[in-house]
Amino acid sequence: MRIESADEAAWWESAVIYEIALISFQDSNGDGKGDLAGLLSRIDYLSWLGVDAVWLTPIYRSPFRDLGYDISDYCAIDPAFGSLEDFDRLLDALHTEGIRLILDLVPNHTANDHDWFVESASSANSAKADWYIWADAAENGGPPNNWLSRFGGSGWEWCETRRQYYYHSFLVEQPDLNWRNPAVRAAIANVMRFWLDRGVDGFRVDASAVLIKDELLRDNPTNPNAKGKPPPQHQKPVFTDDRPGTMDCIEFIREVIDGYRGRMLCGEVQGKIDRIGHFYGNGRPRLHLPLNFALLDSQWGALSLQATIDAYLNAIPDHAWPVWVVGGHDKQRIASKIGEAQMRVLAMLLMTLRGTPFFFMGDEIGRKRVPIPSDRIHDPFEKLVPGYGLCRDPERAPMRWDESPDGGFTMGRPWLPLEPPDGAANVAGQRRDERSILALFRALIALRREHAGLHHGVYEPLRGQNDVIAYRRTDGRKEFLVALNIAAEPRKWHLPGHGRLLISTHLDRPQELLPNASILLRGNEGVIIALEGQ
Ligand code: GLC
Repeated sequence: MRIESADEAAWWESAVIYEIALISFQDSNGDGKGDLAGLLSRIDYLSWLGVDAVWLTPIYRSPFRDLGYDISDYCAIDPAFGSLEDFDRLLDALHTEGIRLILDLVPNHTANDHDWFVESASSANSAKADWYIWADAAENGGPPNNWLSRFGGSGWEWCETRRQYYYHSFLVEQPDLNWRNPAVRAAIANVMRFWLDRGVDGFRVDASAVLIKDELLRDNPTNPNAKGKPPPQHQKPVFTDDRPGTMDCIEFIREVIDGYRGRMLCGEVQGKIDRIGHFYGNGRPRLHLPLNFALLDSQWGALSLQATIDAYLNAIPDHAWPVWVVGGHDKQRIASKIGEAQMRVLAMLLMTLRGTPFFFMGDEIGRKRVPIPSDRIHDPFEKLVPGYGLCRDPERAPMRWDESPDGGFTMGRPWLPLEPPDGAANVAGQRRDERSILALFRALIALRREHAGLHHGVYEPLRGQNDVIAYRRTDGRKEFLVALNIAAEPRKWHLPGHGRLLISTHLDRPQELLPNASILLRGNEGVIIALEGQ
């Protein structure tokens, strides 16, 4: 099933998308960092698992202060990861296996050692003087206004050469580009075309909601609900986030993508439920898939989950294709939050809801947060805003492929430590266990692919009883029922019809006709049932 770029217009609607932080996936040369050749050697795993597309966190040349989201050259591979030839080889091998590749696009900021910034900072008369957000000091010589960086402290940094401040939404070393400047837009479009011409299948747009900031530089108001929150949240980011002009930038990025057939744009958006719908666009299209983290943020309970699902589906436009994300490089591992048994139920929910599922490498083995000793912490967020549990390293720890101390990830010293091997979730052990969570993810992905009703079908919630979430999925030809017992104790559930059990989260039930119209679900058990004889 080799992929040709022009294949299937909306392939992403039925795809299962797997996020990989390359630095933590597989090291091939013993430097303790994952690389392109390492990923190439693991394509058989991706095929076996059944994912349709991989999204890679940034692989470009970078000082790596922020997991590569600080880019020095958008059109070069960081030497730690390999070369452009390695990239082409990887893309070709993925496509041969029928797997698509999504790259991270970071349009909001560069690294401060990017040539564009070096030139922009050199003089207010340079050709790139307006490529970043520069402003004069306030009358007292301080920053132009009160805007904060998400990573702590003022969002403004003084530049002695220009005798002006520049704005950075994130690190001091990540200056924000000026998206009001058409030359910046054109430069990012060229970056996109560079990769699209090589054959990538789309982009995940980083920090898309902050591309435009208030032109008048008005101060942000204080956040009245800031008690106990990290300092960057002591302000309401009214004049820095989700400004009206941002949508025009996203539409511009989409137009570049639409110059190619069969490419997809997903993106990190303003997470508030009432804003997510806007990122799809109305008239002028924006993102195909604005990432929705609502399941991650929901409480684990039948009522809250149902409410979360419905609130999200209500909040997106009719024409919008839904998205469900249960893990990511910025998000705490959900298995740590809800537990292993519940993670299996979540896997079934994820693979049977209407919409494109995203999960993060390791979620499929129920990976938990890896404790990182303080002297091994890399994440600048934790270093700059300590004490609030913001560190993202515990989810970014290298993949555990087997039971060995370094998990089969590297022959060298891993850039971040792995958890002690005893009893830790690992791929090899779970591949030997036909009832593992890995086996469950794989079986669910296969089932979803086999039945159009499970990906494209209509979603119809049923009235939940007794901690059971239930819904019907149908494409008009086949009907499926999904029932998930969110409680830890058994619950009886009445089936609206006769059906054949296809799979249980416990992977121990035979595929049999259910003898009567009710089923006893064990604690934390979910089932998918194909309705018959209607
Ligand atoms: C995005 C990335 C995050 C990064 C930030 C700044 O939010 O997902 O990892 O720290 O952008 O680049």
